Amino acid sequence: MTTIERTKVKELIKREEQRYADERPRSRALADQAQSSLIFGVPMAGMNEWAGGFPIYVESGNGAYLTDVDGHHYLDLCLGDTGGMCGHTPPATIEAVVKQVSKGMTFWLPTEDSIWVGKELTRRFGLPYWQVYLRASDANIAALSVARDVTQRYPIIVFNGSYHGHVPESRLGLMNDKIWPEARGEHDTVEVRDGVVWRGLHAQGIEPTRTTGTRVIDFNDLDALEKALSTKDIACVLCEPAMTNVGIIMPDPGYHEELRRLTRKYGTLLIIDETHTICGGPCGYTKPWNLEPDIFTLGKPVAGGVPTAFMGISADVEKELQRHRVGKALKSIGGGTLSGNALSMAAAKATLEHVLTEKTYEHTISLCKKLVDGVDGMIKANGMPWHVLRLGCRAEWRWSKTPPRNGKEARAAFDMDLHELVHLYFMNRGILLTPPHSMVLIPPECTAKDIDHHNNVFGEFVSELSNGPD
Ligand SMILES: Cc1ncc(COP(=O)(O)O)c(C=O)c1O
Repeated sequence: MTTIERTKVKELIKREEQRYADERPRSRALADQAQSSLIFGVPMAGMNEWAGGFPIYVESGNGAYLTDVDGHHYLDLCLGDTGGMCGHTPPATIEAVVKQVSKGMTFWLPTEDSIWVGKELTRRFGLPYWQVYLRASDANIAALSVARDVTQRYPIIVFNGSYHGHVPESRLGLMNDKIWPEARGEHDTVEVRDGVVWRGLHAQGIEPTRTTGTRVIDFNDLDALEKALSTKDIACVLCEPAMTNVGIIMPDPGYHEELRRLTRKYGTLLIIDETHTICGGPCGYTKPWNLEPDIFTLGKPVAGGVPTAFMGISADVEKELQRHRVGKALKSIGGGTLSGNALSMAAAKATLEHVLTEKTYEHTISLCKKLVDGVDGMIKANGMPWHVLRLGCRAEWRWSKTPPRNGKEARAAFDMDLHELVHLYFMNRGILLTPPHSMVLIPPECTAKDIDHHNNVFGEFVSELSNGPD
């Protein structure tokens, strides 16, 4: 088994950092200019998560590829952290968008496309009623609100290591390794009250109450789940079919069946967020795994890159919501002035009808299998202490021998040096991976030659670090 030499890793980071900076003078100059007008020098703080000290500035995208302002071409396997999963220029979406732009973009009135989209979402995911948002974050905010209205309960459960967007209550999953104390038997906790994160309340001598707050528990731990639910005050569990935000974490066999059984037993609603797991196929995992959510959310690639997201609800939830109807408006489903706009709906219809199809997934999933087979072979042949996992057309390699079962184990496998090195290494060789982990997503225009390119770079990377064949 290869032992990773830390001095070697540091040397390689230095070498690759130098190359990254030397080859991108224009991006560097723009990043310097941006410091004087943009917070943290970027239009969206997350754009600082890339390795290299400054982000590349994009000139244009085309299908599976990007060109930066210094003239470098990249195979883009980050794809806007899933927002660009349909490729950067999906022809059907572009055609629909161009047509709609000349007919008006936003009216605060429905267009006929929305009816087709609602029916198509029901066909794919099973839930009968839908609402449209601009971001998955907004869909999740609405989903929590609906769950609270319906159950008349406030606290929610999220999993340690999860992320569901810019949603204060759910951000605790990603931000913190603190687990609901009774589930873990420790005396520290975190919670959100009225949208404010309260941390270390015990440390300050303040008892968090049972009627507010977010409970963070470990994925794949059924005892912790039942303990947390048995207080009978939990509005909902918000989760992905498989976790994707601390790397891929697969559910144990039977975990989802128990999650569904226990949530029903304790009167808690189940929200399934397929924003990332839509990489699994046209119907995500909701139908294939028979997850039967009460509420469902999905965003990012659903309109080919035009900001759009959806929330679906079951017939029972809809019936309950009707009881809380105030005049014509259902307060809790929220949304915003621009939600469900004509442009979003035209883009979503075209994308669902022509891009996110069975045929597309057959192609991207088969290429992802090819990538994973290659990477797995090289890891094993060189005795690297790593592993690679695939989830539909998404794959991730991690710096541990075996896959983690929860967020805590996933965090333990983080290696910031290797993480930085691998991103620099791939960018310098024309490939973008997804920060903040080592994730790839395969776009429709990707070819077998692109996968060979990726796997050759991975092979070079391994040979720099390995002690030779096992
Ligand atoms: C599973 C999941 N849900 C929701 C979101 C929020 O998406 P957005 O930032 O587009 O609102 C994210 C973002 O990464 C996510 O990973």
